[in-house]
Amino acid sequence: MTSHHGDGTGTDGVDWDARAASFDEEPDHGLRDPRVRAAWADRLRDWLPARPGDVLDLGCGTGSLSLLAAGQGHRVTGVDRSPAMVALARQKLAGRHAVFLTGDAAAPPVDGERYDAVLVRHVLWTMPEPDRALRRWHDLLRPGGRLVLVEGVWGTVSPVGIPADRLIALLAPLTPRVRVERLSGDLALWGREVDDERYAVVALRD
Ligand SMILES: C[S@@+](CC[C@H](N)C(=O)[O-])C[C@H]1O[C@@H](n2cnc3c(N)ncnc32)[C@H](O)[C@@H]1O
Repeated sequence: MTSHHGDGTGTDGVDWDARAASFDEEPDHGLRDPRVRAAWADRLRDWLPARPGDVLDLGCGTGSLSLLAAGQGHRVTGVDRSPAMVALARQKLAGRHAVFLTGDAAAPPVDGERYDAVLVRHVLWTMPEPDRALRRWHDLLRPGGRLVLVEGVWGTVSPVGIPADRLIALLAPLTPRVRVERLSGDLALWGREVDDERYAVVALRD
């Protein structure tokens, strides 16, 4: 399929290349505050496999979660459509066991590779065919592997995002082994109070 977004502009119409330089300024993006970073590290340790494995971080942005995963011993491959994001992720993980590729999360450029976890935070909701993307990501898992999907619905006046119920329904044809964790009430993750829907889904491959 031909993409109409050959540069860093996502299917959501956002110019992610232009946003890359300031992306990490949000507490939950850059994870610069040690308390916020620790909160995400704790969750990630629980969501990712207990033993070091191969993790594919799709729509990895500046690599903040990739860095936590690498710090927990995982081998990370990150993919982002935005070359500016990929450049920042490469910088952030210099010297780590990690590679970053420019490409579409809907069709990751990782021919023949399989992963113990596919990690996707705040990306699925922008994708035009989330059901197809989920099937593709599920196919990239080794037996016993898992999808770790962190999503939400942002804003209350004109909300955007994907509600947990919808994501669970999209996963139903792939696996019944789905766990949902509600994240809105955990201030430490966001660096402030949030009153919209934030959650993570861990879906195990059958
Ligand atoms: C909200 S940011 C999240 C970044 C990162 N996952 C995180 O949680 O810090 C969304 C990222 O997804 C990327 N993105 C959006 N659509 C994409 C697609 N179809 N393929 C690859 N990357 C995409 C954007 O370039 C941007 O870096």
